Amino acid sequence: MRKTAPPKTYRVESFGCQMNVYDGERMEEMLSEQGISAAAAGEDADLVVLNTCHIREKASEKVYSRIGRLTKGKDNPPLIAVAGCVAQAEGEEIMARSDAVSMVVGPQAYHRLPAMLERAVDGQRSTDTDMPADAKFAALPRRRKSAPSAFLTIQEGCDKFCTYCVVPYTRGAEISRPYSALVDEAKKLVEVGAKEITLLGQNVSAWAGEDDKGRAIGMAGLIRALAEVPELARLRYMTSHPADMDDALIEAHGDIAKLMPFLHLPVQAGNDRVLRAMNRSHTAESYLKLLDRFRAARPDLALSGDFIVGFPGETDAEFEDTLKMVDAVGYAQAYSFKYSPRPGTPAATMDGQVAPEVMDERLQRLQASLSRDQLAFNAASVGKTCQVLVDRQGKYLGQLLGKSPWLQSVHFTGDASIGDLVNVELVEALGSSLGGRLV
Ligand code: 5AD
Ligand code: SF4
Repeated sequence: MRKTAPPKTYRVESFGCQMNVYDGERMEEMLSEQGISAAAAGEDADLVVLNTCHIREKASEKVYSRIGRLTKGKDNPPLIAVAGCVAQAEGEEIMARSDAVSMVVGPQAYHRLPAMLERAVDGQRSTDTDMPADAKFAALPRRRKSAPSAFLTIQEGCDKFCTYCVVPYTRGAEISRPYSALVDEAKKLVEVGAKEITLLGQNVSAWAGEDDKGRAIGMAGLIRALAEVPELARLRYMTSHPADMDDALIEAHGDIAKLMPFLHLPVQAGNDRVLRAMNRSHTAESYLKLLDRFRAARPDLALSGDFIVGFPGETDAEFEDTLKMVDAVGYAQAYSFKYSPRPGTPAATMDGQVAPEVMDERLQRLQASLSRDQLAFNAASVGKTCQVLVDRQGKYLGQLLGKSPWLQSVHFTGDASIGDLVNVELVEALGSSLGGRLV
């Protein structure tokens, strides 16, 4: 590679989950700290960081085509760094396949991006996919600004090894960030504008640590401590595994007013044989019983989940059990995906891979059920007055958008500003949002 001038502008493009959004923000802060300023689009930047996702298919193809569009035919192409889970899983191949890439940096190593950048300017390519996750956070700069609703990574990695999932390989083993670092970061986020914090982790409720008196605490203890931060109005967390939901966390939903009445708890499938083959440690019945306990603690809890259709060997009858699960729960919203074989995972080589057209049909039916339930949930909210956290301007003049306690998008017009918590009467249910009136 040839030497280049140090970049004056950067753009971080994040794909995939909320944790990637969080990582992307931390990389932006780091680059700003280096005196590089943010560009409005990758096309205008001297340095582009592609913060990639590997959870489902075509992730790496997307990366190569984006690299192509950013560099082809350009006299002065930008420096390109590939970060995130594709970098972790396919770093060597990326370097071999694309000359345009000068840095490949995994999710646990991005705090070393400034040093890699110095080498890149000097004409040297580098790859860093080391995985000592604990070093990263301590090396990142302090938070400087925040949207009204902020993400805070408290836990990373996963030890569950669901047979379809690449996360244990790309994000590594479970680690919990220390309590004091999290309380500090939460306070800092609130100081710079956050009203709501969503605690993030691949397996967030497995968080474990020690409080300031050295007592062992879990997720519920952490939530209780963060709820004490005075100017923080709302707490949420995601994503959880049914196996790690303990009594203390269920209780916390009953008695901490700042913990919002919303739970994202993936079930993946409704059939016990499929769940076993997925290496999920719950059954359909144990999942439903768990939800009953949450609902007993917090009767207005809204539920969300993740589903996979077409896992290897899934029969029509087994898929019907997933539809029954949806009927039994009544999700307020949910994500659903076609199974995608991930290289290196056990399910990728299982017998009985399901034909694409069968998956398409199952996904359509599942999504029809989920949309029906989301609309029903929103329709049942009409007439309620609730607090909405205003987080952005709407499409129309004077229109504002925000989130209800149940994570519904609410739009309304009226005299309020971004970051305000306002009382809104919900007046109209649309598919995935609600219209409201300021009261
Ligand atoms: N194929 C399809 N969906 C997947 N997910 C994880 N791995 C795969 C895969 N190989 C889904 C799961 C998980 C969500 C984040 O992505 O539903 O909960
Ligand atoms: Fe992947 Fe979630 Fe299963 Fe962990 S619990 S292996 S992140 S699906």
